[in-house]
Amino acid sequence: MAETDQALPPSDQLAAMNLTDTVEKHAFSDRVLIRSIVGRPDGGAGLAGQRVRAGGWVKTGREQGKGTFAFLELNDGSCPANLQVIVDAGLAVLSKLVATGTCVVVDGILKVPPEGTRQKIELRVEKVVSVGEVDPAKYPIPKTKLTLEFLRDHLHLRARTNTIAAIARIRNALAFATHSFFQEHNFLYVHTPILTTSDCEGAGEMFQVTTLISESEKLEKELIKNPPPSEVDIEAARQVVSERGEAVKQLKAAKASKSEITASVAELNKAKENLSKLEERSKLKPGIPKKDGKIDYTQDFFARQAFLTVSGQLQVETYACAVSNVYTFGPTFRAEHSHTSRHLAEFWMVEPEIAFADLQDDMNCAEAYVKYMCNWLLDKCLDDMLFMAKSYDKGCIDRLRMVASVPFVRISYTEAVELLEEAVRGGKKFENEVKWGIDLASEHERYLTEVKFQKPLIVYNYPKGIKAFYMRLNDDLKTVAAMDVLVPKVGELIGGSQREERYEVIRERILEVGLPLEPYEWYLDLRRYGTVKHCGFGLGFERMILFATGIENIRDVIPFPRYPGRADL
Ligand code: 4AD
Ligand code: MG
Repeated sequence: MAETDQALPPSDQLAAMNLTDTVEKHAFSDRVLIRSIVGRPDGGAGLAGQRVRAGGWVKTGREQGKGTFAFLELNDGSCPANLQVIVDAGLAVLSKLVATGTCVVVDGILKVPPEGTRQKIELRVEKVVSVGEVDPAKYPIPKTKLTLEFLRDHLHLRARTNTIAAIARIRNALAFATHSFFQEHNFLYVHTPILTTSDCEGAGEMFQVTTLISESEKLEKELIKNPPPSEVDIEAARQVVSERGEAVKQLKAAKASKSEITASVAELNKAKENLSKLEERSKLKPGIPKKDGKIDYTQDFFARQAFLTVSGQLQVETYACAVSNVYTFGPTFRAEHSHTSRHLAEFWMVEPEIAFADLQDDMNCAEAYVKYMCNWLLDKCLDDMLFMAKSYDKGCIDRLRMVASVPFVRISYTEAVELLEEAVRGGKKFENEVKWGIDLASEHERYLTEVKFQKPLIVYNYPKGIKAFYMRLNDDLKTVAAMDVLVPKVGELIGGSQREERYEVIRERILEVGLPLEPYEWYLDLRRYGTVKHCGFGLGFERMILFATGIENIRDVIPFPRYPGRADL
C-alpha cells in the first residue's frame, strides 16, 4: 500500500469527521487547534476563506521576497503537521519571528496556496497578536537534527521536537486505549498506593522512603545553632527547683496567706517545667536514631520501614477478591542497577486482576488487550505512526497490523528451553547458557519472538525457583502458573500469573522463598476468608510504547526518565 493511501484515516472516521467549512475555536483558549485545520482529511482546503486565530512554536521560518514577508511553519503539538503561515513585513519585525522555537499567536485568513505547493492550506496573517522571542544563538534545541541522546540532557525543552511530541501523543493514546479496553470489559479502575510497606516481587529492589535522614540533618543544624544544655545548666535548673520548693515549704510552715502560697507554687511549677525541658533537650543526639545497634524505624514517619511500590498487584488483589474485575495503572519503582535500554527506575504499569479466572483467561485477556492497543493506534494515531515509520522504524505499522491480526503463539517454558537448545545445537550462540531452570534472558526471549516465531509469543509454566511466591503451584510441584508475553523489538512486555489461592500452599511458598510471614498476614487473609481462583498480569507501559514506535531506548518514551545516576527536573 502506498504511503499516501496509509495517510488517509479509515473511511468510518472520514464519515464521522466534521467536513463542514467552519472551524471551531478551542473550548478553553482563544485560538483554533492546528490539528482542526491541517488534520482534516482534506488537509484544511475546505476551510479556505475562514478567519482564524492560531498559535504555536515556529519549526522553521524564513524571510522571503527581500524581506517583504516571512514563511513560518507553525506547530502547536496538536498533530504532527505544521500550519504554514505568511506574515507581511508591515505587521511585525520579521527577524523576530523566524527563529526556531519562537512562539507566535496570529490572526489571519485561510487561503489555498498557489498550485504546486505541498500545503493544502496556508494562513495569511492580518495581525500578529503576540510573540515569545527566542535568541537563536542561545536556544538549545535548534532546527538541526538532534539525537535522542542529546535531547535527554534537555528534558524541559525536548517536547518541542517532532519525535518527542509524537511519542507523547502515542503514549496518551495508549493510556486512553487502556482505560477504554478495561472499562468496556467491566473492570474497575482502582488506585493502589505508591507508598507501601510490602515488597510485592520479594526481589529486594525497592526504594526506601524515610524522613529519618532529613530529620537528623535538621536536628544537627539546629543543635549547632542552639546547642543542647550542659550538665552545669541542668544542675543550675535543678538548684532553682529545690530553692523554690524550699520557699513553698517555708511559706506553708509560716501559715502565709493563700494568695502568697499559690504564687509561690506557681513559681515552683515554672522552674520544674524549665528543668524538664532542659532534660528533654539534653537527650537530643545528632544522627539516625538507633536501638540495639539497628536503625530505630519506630521513630520514622510511618513508625515502620516504608518503600515506593514495585507493583500494585498485592493491593489490587484485595479489590479483585471483592469486586471481581479490577485494574490499576500507575507509576512503579525499581532500584535495579540496570543500565539497559529496556529498564527504568520509575516506569508505569497496567495491572489487571481477574477473579474467577485461571491462567488461560489471563493469557486471553493479555492478548486481547495488546491487540486492542495496536488497533487503537492504527485507528486513532496513524499520522504519528507514519512519522515513526518514516523516521525510526519502517516496519512499525506492519508490526501493529500483524500483532492485531495473528493469534499469539503459546508454548510452555519447557518447550521454549527445548527450542533454544535446538537453536544452540544448530550453531546459534547465546551469551547466557540455556538449560531448564534458567530465567530466560532478553537474548533468548528476543530470539524466540523475533527469529523463531516472528510474532508475539506467550511462554507459560515457569520453574517455581525463578518466579515470585504468589504464583500458583502446578500439579508437577516444579512449575508455577506464570506467563510472560514476549514481543518483537522488546522481549518481555507482560508478566503475569494465576495466583496461589490455597492458604496452606501460599504460606509454605512464602516461607520457602525466605520471606517473613508477618508482613503478608493481610494477604494470607484473602486466602483464609472466601478464597477465590484469580489471576492477573502487569504490562510495562513504556515497553508497549517501544514496541509500537520502534524507538530503541526506553528513556525516550517517558517524559521524565529516571535511571541510575539521573533524575532530572
Ligand atoms: O514481570 P513483572 O516484574 O511483574 C510484576 O510486577 C507483577 N506484579 C505484575 C502482575 O502480575 N500484576 O513486571 C511486569 C512488567 C514487565 O513484563 C515489564 O514489561 C515491565 O513490567 N517492567 C519494566 N519496565 C521498565 N523498567 C523496568 N525496570 C521494568 N521492570 C518490569
Ligand atoms: Mg517479569
